[in-house]
Formats: sequence, structure tokens, C-alpha cells
Amino acid sequence: MCGIVGYIGKNNIKEQLLDGLKELEYRGYDSAGFSIMKDGELYSYKAVGKIKNLVEKAKDFQVEGFGLGIAHTRWATHGKPTEINAHPHFAEFSSIVHNGIIENYQSIKTQLEKKGINFLSQTDTEVIVKLFEDNLDNDAFKAFKTTINELKGAYATLLLTQKEPKTMFFAKVGSPLLIAKNDEEIFFASSDAPVVGKAKKVIYLEDGDYGYVKDNQIHLYRDNEETKLNWSDLPKNKEFAQKEGFRFFMEKEIYEQSNVIVETMIGRVSEEGINFEELDKNFLDGITNITICACGTSYHAGMVGSYLLQRNAKIKTTLEIGSEFRYKEPILTKDTLFIVISQSGETADTLEALKMAKKAGLKTLAICNVDNSSIVRLADKTILTRAGIEKGVASTKAFATQVMVLWMLSNYFGNINEYEIFMKISKACEVTEKLHEKIKRLSKRYLHGHGFFYIGRDVFYPLALEGALKLKEISYLHAEGYPAGEMKHGPIALADPELYTIALLSKNLLFDKTKSNIEELSSRDSTILTIASEEIETTDDFIKVNESNHYMIEFYEMMIITQLLAMEISIRLGNDVDMPRNLAKSVTVE
Ligand code: M6R
Repeated sequence: MCGIVGYIGKNNIKEQLLDGLKELEYRGYDSAGFSIMKDGELYSYKAVGKIKNLVEKAKDFQVEGFGLGIAHTRWATHGKPTEINAHPHFAEFSSIVHNGIIENYQSIKTQLEKKGINFLSQTDTEVIVKLFEDNLDNDAFKAFKTTINELKGAYATLLLTQKEPKTMFFAKVGSPLLIAKNDEEIFFASSDAPVVGKAKKVIYLEDGDYGYVKDNQIHLYRDNEETKLNWSDLPKNKEFAQKEGFRFFMEKEIYEQSNVIVETMIGRVSEEGINFEELDKNFLDGITNITICACGTSYHAGMVGSYLLQRNAKIKTTLEIGSEFRYKEPILTKDTLFIVISQSGETADTLEALKMAKKAGLKTLAICNVDNSSIVRLADKTILTRAGIEKGVASTKAFATQVMVLWMLSNYFGNINEYEIFMKISKACEVTEKLHEKIKRLSKRYLHGHGFFYIGRDVFYPLALEGALKLKEISYLHAEGYPAGEMKHGPIALADPELYTIALLSKNLLFDKTKSNIEELSSRDSTILTIASEEIETTDDFIKVNESNHYMIEFYEMMIITQLLAMEISIRLGNDVDMPRNLAKSVTVE
């Protein structure tokens, strides 16, 4: 996830771009840059790290009057966060910023290299601008159209070229991009935040839209025809804009899951097989077993991974909690692949466990959401989850993407390809209005009582743990996750009408066994909410997931439901959903 900004006007262009980037810093901040076209000349600056470094670097650059500018704040996907890899990227006389991933960049690059075109960066973005110049004869818009037609993947992009110095080209597929305006200025941005308070009107571009701005006229093409501009009003409140209309960041992040899950898969999942460019073919040489180590939500994702790796890759997999692992005097052998999972990449317990594994000479792999974090820098190899910045303290989309990486890894190591199922997950993560409304209504019945049991079997057991953790983090109600079959070994003693059970009942995995466990609780008069594709008699409340042919599709649908349920209960109780008491987003202490 990166952020892009564009500006056409005469009102302090450099500041417009830098202010815009600051508003988008939540989308990534490992490097930033801008290009300004002024009187036919392109002026560009880039810096590694936060926007303040770019501000410092460009402090002596003065520009006045009318100009066109593009700017970018980066969250590395292809290539390390260096100045060379920072955007804008250049060809001979053009400059580009891009958010997204070009899946076929390697083949385009090879094709251009054969023509003698050299590349400076390791990014996928550089191929777009080089391809554009290669396609350019004398009609820049035609070359731009030809270029975007050759791209596969996701992109929101802005391009400037000295061949047409008064024009800015734009295109959007998959990644967000909007155009905003007031009487004298035109803006582009990845979200509302940079333009609220500056522009009055907005158009949220749709996938497949492209066009150009010239002489203050916007030419927007949809389905390859120039289309009418349908402006809507911009919200006036900044915080509202950053949350894109959602009440909380957590809510926004729950809704984002159906998109970020695609980002996680891009370039990795295809009909031909699972591919991780981060790992080489011999990665598993000498490895006979895997240990996964993590904390909190990441630990729950790791537990899902342990089921999937054993089932799909047939590799013995054990699981460790970071804080326990450190002091249990673990026996570490070099035939073990040590996988650490962390959203932040800074969790002290996980980091220390990784250090121990490295010291013992184990091969290490990090699954992480933040490039260049301490864990990423230390591990031998890293797979980035690409969830984008997660602001809500209660982790949601990071969990979804961690599970996705582990599931893909189980296919990769097991040399299998559940392609058809992977392709259904984005849809499974969509939040429909009907579902959200149902959960909102139902939540009022679950505000009191003396606690919650979340129960499930197999991968639905870690999902039960995660559902319970979400609820306790933001509602402060007592909730425990249990393997459904374990209730009769003690916890069932607590069952009564004031004890709420949230039952995760899969149609595709151990249906009859889990159903019997629900019945055991029901006959002790526990109040039960069942989440399943078909209603069972013994339940008090029921939330339906779609009929499907695979347990991972059910898994992701149920994940969304448990996250929304926790959030709606917390909202009804009047809590601060995004910043719950006693917690922090990054736990860098032991
Ligand atoms: O950044 P990490 O994934 O390493 O963090 C681990 C836990 O602190 C984290 O998952 C925590 O449990 C979250 N608040 C869960 O919502």
C-alpha cells in the first residue's frame, strides 16, 4: 500500500504535494518523492524514510506560479526501501508515481532490456514509464493508453512527460484514486484525506478509468469512451475523511480485508502454481520440521498455519508463544525451519525468540506486515503480508493476510495448488450491508452475562481463540476460546443461560462432531449463537455463512462475522474501539 498525490494549479505546488503526502503517510512511509513540471522542465526530489526527510531535502527548492506535480509515499513491495526504489521513477523525459503491483513487470522488463533499455531500480513501477517512452511516437495519450493496456495487476498511476508538459495522465485499476477540484485547482489522491478542506468536489475513479488533464480540462475515459464528469461533494471533516466514512479505523480495516487479501496473493497465486519470489527452490533443503513462534493474534494465525502446513505440506509443525519460548530452554535443531509471525515486526518477545533461533543456526523466515522492521531485518527471509498500515489496535486485516500467507506457504511446500479456493476468498471477506445490519441488531443481546465461550474444531479452534481475543480487547467482557471437544473436560461446568457460546460450525470439517459439542452445551442451557451455513435446532441465535465446498471459505466468512460482532458489542458499550484501554499497537517490551 502506497499513497499518491497529484496537483495542477498555481497555489504553492510544492507545499500542496508535501501536505498531501503527510495526510497519506498512514499508507506507508519508507520513502517519498515528488516531480514538478514547471515551464517544460521536470524537477524531482526523493528521500528515504518519512515525509519529513523529503521536506528537509527539498527545503531550498523554490517554485512559484502554475505547475503540475506528482508525489508518492511508499510502502515497499518490490525492492528495498532505498532512494533508487523510491517514486517517482523516470525514463528519459517522463516521470511516474504508482500505487499497486504490476504482476507482469518481469516479462515487460525482459522485453525492454532486450531492446537495450536499462533499469535503475528493482521496482515494478519503473517498467511503466520505460514502456511508455518505448511506445511513444508523437501522441503521448495514445502511448499512455497502449502502455496501460499491456499492464496486468493493480495500479493507480500519474504520469508527466516533457513531450506534453501541460498534461497529466492518470489511470486506475484495483488501487484507489480520486480526482478533486475547486475553481482553480485540480487534485489527485489515493484517498480523501489530502483534499478535504482544499477541494469542494470529487470523483472516485472506477476500475478501468483513465484519461488526462490539460488546460484545466479533465478528460475521463470509461469503457474506452470519454465520459461525463459526475462530481459529488467532499466531506468537510478531516478525521472522517481518513476513516473514509467509517466510524472507526477497525471498521474500515474489516471492510478492507476483501481487497488486501488480493494484494497478498498478487504475483504469488496463479493457475500455474504458488510462487514466492522471496524464497528459492532449495529453501526446504535439510528441513524436516517447522516451528512457528508469535504472540497474540499473530500466534492465532500461526496456529491456523500449523494445521494447514501439516495437512497440505505434510511437514511436522509445532507452535510456540514468544514469551514462553524464550525461557523454556528449547531444544533447537538445524533441521527446523523457524517461522516468526508479526504484524508490526517489533514485538519484543517474538524478536528475542528469533534471535535465539538465529544464534542456534536455524534457518529463519519472517511473515510480517512492516518492511524494514526489526524482525524483517533480522530474519534470513521475509514474506510481507501486504495488509497496509493497520491503525486499529485490535488486529483484523493483518490476521487475514497472515493466514493467507501461511495457507499459500502450505501449498507451496506441499507442491499443491488450491487455486480455485484461493480465488473465492476475496468475495468471502466482503461485508454486505445485510450481514452488518444483522450483527448490529444481534449485538444488543450479548452485552451482559458472565462471559463468552467461542468454540470450534481444527482451524476453527484458532479462529475461536481469535474471536474471543477480539471481543475481550475492545469490549472488556470475559471471553475464552476453546476447542469444541474440550468443553466436557471442565469448562462446561460454567454453562448456564448467562454464559454465551459463539459456536463456529463448519459444514466441510467435522460437522457432526462440532454439532454434538454444541448440543452438549445447549442441554446445559447455555445461550448459543451459531455461525454456520445451516441452522441447527439447538441454537438460540444464528448467523448464516454461504454454502461452500471448502472450509477455508467458511473460515474467512466466519472471521468477518466474529470481528464485526466484537466491534458492535464494543460500540454499544461505549468503548473506544480503536484505542482500547491498557493496550498498545506495538508491544516492544518484554
Ligand atoms: O505486531 P505483532 O503481530 O507481533 O503483535 C502481536 C500481538 O501483540 C498482537 O497481535 C495483539 O494481540 C493485538 N492487539 C491483537 O489484536
